[in-house]
Amino acid sequence: MSITKESELTGMQKVSEAVARTLKEMRNFARPGMTTKELDDFGGQFLKDLGAKSAPYLTYGFPGWTCISVNKEFCHGIPSDKRILREGDLINIDVSAELGGFWSDNGGSFVLGTDVYQHQKLVEASKQILHKAIDNIKSGVRISDIGFLIETEAKKRGYKVIKNLTGHGVGRSLHEAPAEIANYRDRFNLAKFKKNSVVAIETFISTTSSYAETLKDGWTMVGNKGGFMAQHEHTIVVTDGKPIILTAMNEIWN
Ligand code: CO
Ligand code: CO
Repeated sequence: MSITKESELTGMQKVSEAVARTLKEMRNFARPGMTTKELDDFGGQFLKDLGAKSAPYLTYGFPGWTCISVNKEFCHGIPSDKRILREGDLINIDVSAELGGFWSDNGGSFVLGTDVYQHQKLVEASKQILHKAIDNIKSGVRISDIGFLIETEAKKRGYKVIKNLTGHGVGRSLHEAPAEIANYRDRFNLAKFKKNSVVAIETFISTTSSYAETLKDGWTMVGNKGGFMAQHEHTIVVTDGKPIILTAMNEIWN
């Protein structure tokens, strides 16, 4: 969406605060021994208490309130009472929701407890790259140039990017124009970031795969060549200068 009046900015701030606080609280709540269902129910209740409704549930009938993906799962992981979190797991939580007709999206990967399997380097790379990408977005910048930046920064650190997962416009629904904010230079995408538009910028930094594939459950995505992936996502408003980071309260950069 494009912000045209104060009430729209206020609406976007409110829903963004809800998804950001939920993501932060879920990250703090996660413990070894807990199931992903317990973590999701905690997040679902937190959203509800803030008056927000789960976006993947509303939009796609997703079987959970949030997406929780563990280790080899890249994204859209289904919360399960059989999936038990363990020390050193690479966990991705993605929280998106609707509140008062406004929609916001954010997510982040983290290592649970001690970094037993050395995933932290990948997590840090993803965080830094998202920071750099957002720092370079302003009105008039080509979307494909930000994709190029993300891929270049990933390569510099010895990583790849996932080509079929992208950031996107957001605001009046979960996914809207611009439909694809890729993590590589898509030379067919001539679109530019526009002032006052609301977009979800997300990284998909991976160790070995370049594409994500859906498992038989119809939701969970894993790498076409396996390995691990880290994602970090903020919903922002594009301006003539630095973007307004609506989901800053998730503290994914801390
Ligand atoms: Co998103
Ligand atoms: Co998301």
